[in-house]
Amino acid sequence: MRNLCARVLRKLASIVDPTPHARPIDVSDDYVRWLCYANAGILHRGNLFSFDYAIRNLPSEAPLVEIGSFCGLSTNLLTYYKERHGVRNRLITCDKWEFEGAHHGSMVGDSSISHSEYQTFVRETYIRNIRMFSRYDLPYAIEMLSDDFFEAWRKSEEVLDVIGQPIKFGGPISFFYIDGNHAYEYVKRDFENCHEFLERGGFILFDDSADGSGWEVCQVVAEVKRSREYDVVISNPNYLFKKR
Ligand SMILES: C[S@@+](CC[C@H](N)C(=O)[O-])C[C@H]1O[C@@H](n2cnc3c(N)ncnc32)[C@H](O)[C@@H]1O
Repeated sequence: MRNLCARVLRKLASIVDPTPHARPIDVSDDYVRWLCYANAGILHRGNLFSFDYAIRNLPSEAPLVEIGSFCGLSTNLLTYYKERHGVRNRLITCDKWEFEGAHHGSMVGDSSISHSEYQTFVRETYIRNIRMFSRYDLPYAIEMLSDDFFEAWRKSEEVLDVIGQPIKFGGPISFFYIDGNHAYEYVKRDFENCHEFLERGGFILFDDSADGSGWEVCQVVAEVKRSREYDVVISNPNYLFKKR
């Protein structure tokens, strides 16, 4: 009888609140709060739990790659968790600061700011932010669209990042954070490219992949789940996968 009551109550709770992750775990601390005041960005705080987990459990010393950096908030947080866990794997970020829906020559809304001025401002802000908040462990910030980044990675090219640091591409990757173009075809291609270079036991975190969020990212996540090549390790509410 008590079991039956518990089941009925659970069922009622799920009808009242159908989202399984109404309250994601938020591991923000004082530093995260101060950083978020100063460093503009688009970050779900639940991702921090996944950053922390993945960085504590990296399978090797292979680099971490972030696709989509904007003003550097997630970049600086990845650096923060690296520092906390004494992880020295290189962090490589990839963004060309070309925003969806922004057309060259057009203005931002009804303002007198052009999209190209906005783009330049965000790029410079990114550089300033990493120079401040990741100064002892600067990431390699590659100014490319992700497709071009992977092409160059495949060819083991030698490139300079946005602040002139040389880096030789190629080899396995231990963690990908996918937060670039959110349209299905882009996320799908980003995933396929990541899959090619991700080592066994490595991680992929998809931003904006929460169940019911409506982003096309969710379709890719459903396909990854069906593929049986990955285990879901965290959904908080975005999905963190580990490669089998
Ligand atoms: C949602 S924002 C990233 C937010 C960032 N992670 C943060 O912490 O605030 C998406 C970013 O992806 C970049 N982007 C869009 N399409 C891309 C692509 N194909 N390759 C790489 N970056 C891309 C955009 O320029 C933009 O800065």
